[in-house]
Amino acid sequence: MSKTVEEITLNDGTSVPVIGLGTYGLNGNAGASAITSAIEIGYRLIDTAYNYENEGTVGEAIRRSTVPREELRITSKLPGRYHEYNKAVTTIQESLYRANLDYYDLYLIHWPNPKQDHYVEAWQALIDAKKWGLIRSIGVCNFLPEHLVRLEKETGVLPSINQIELHPFFNQEEQRKWHMEHNVKTESWSPLARANDVLQNDKLQKIADSHNKTISQVILRWHHQLGAIPIPKSASPVRQLENISIFDFSLSDAEMELVAELTRPDGRNKNQDPAEYEEF
Ligand SMILES: NC(=O)c1ccc[n+]([C@@H]2O[C@H](COP(=O)([O-])OP(=O)(O)OC[C@H]3O[C@@H](n4cnc5c(N)ncnc54)[C@H](OP(=O)(O)O)[C@@H]3O)[C@@H](O)[C@H]2O)c1
Repeated sequence: MSKTVEEITLNDGTSVPVIGLGTYGLNGNAGASAITSAIEIGYRLIDTAYNYENEGTVGEAIRRSTVPREELRITSKLPGRYHEYNKAVTTIQESLYRANLDYYDLYLIHWPNPKQDHYVEAWQALIDAKKWGLIRSIGVCNFLPEHLVRLEKETGVLPSINQIELHPFFNQEEQRKWHMEHNVKTESWSPLARANDVLQNDKLQKIADSHNKTISQVILRWHHQLGAIPIPKSASPVRQLENISIFDFSLSDAEMELVAELTRPDGRNKNQDPAEYEEF
């Protein structure tokens, strides 16, 4: 059974599906099988990264699938150790070689690493790689408003997407508002909070029962109604189908509010505050 997922338009005129597949931890043959399964089920947006060491796995999954390349939206990400302009340009090329692709649909800076202060030149490399046709759309992850303001001020270009940690325990209200006001789409990483105890929450269970859905489906529907693009990772075809089956019900305003109320200041899964945390 294959689902058709609607798309939304980004600030550069390209479009992406409203839900995608996360691939962190999907590597090798088993990983490729899991990703091909997701594509056959209906996922068209696939999220990888140089640092996941699985761009090759994603490329293999694409070749095994029956879906033409042009129907897919493949995302990869630039690691922190390669922010300097020349290194960033080479890394984008290397990312493509690893996946054996001619272009990425989306390429994102993985973390701002503000203490290193090279993210603006990394951004310039993405802008240029887009001009050269290596990338269709460019974006970032984990950028705070102050980082986004600086990108626009120094290059004149705002990202199409900012991929941030977002789930009921950390609902990112202020950051999402900033994105909305500046026409930057929010993409949600760890949308299921990495299946932590949020999946046993009583309030969510009640909402799920009333719709004959699972807690995961309620959470992913909540992301969708917020206007965010969730990218749940699952290795299991059954859970992949569960996660994409969220377009036949909707949450009321009161239910949306109940989910939002679970947020807490220390709700990040691993305390990775982009102002401080660095990843290379
Ligand atoms: N930009 C960044 O800095 C950043 C950081 C972290 C993640 N990401 C991206 O975001 C993606 C998603 O985040 P994530 O992998 O951290 O966490 P996640 O998608 O919130 O959760 C994944 C976990 O949930 C389980 N799961 C999935 N669907 C389920 C369901 N319906 N019921 C119960 N359990 C379910 C998965 O197990 P099974 O596989 O066994 O189903 C896995 O253990 C990543 O894979 C990666 O692509 C980006």
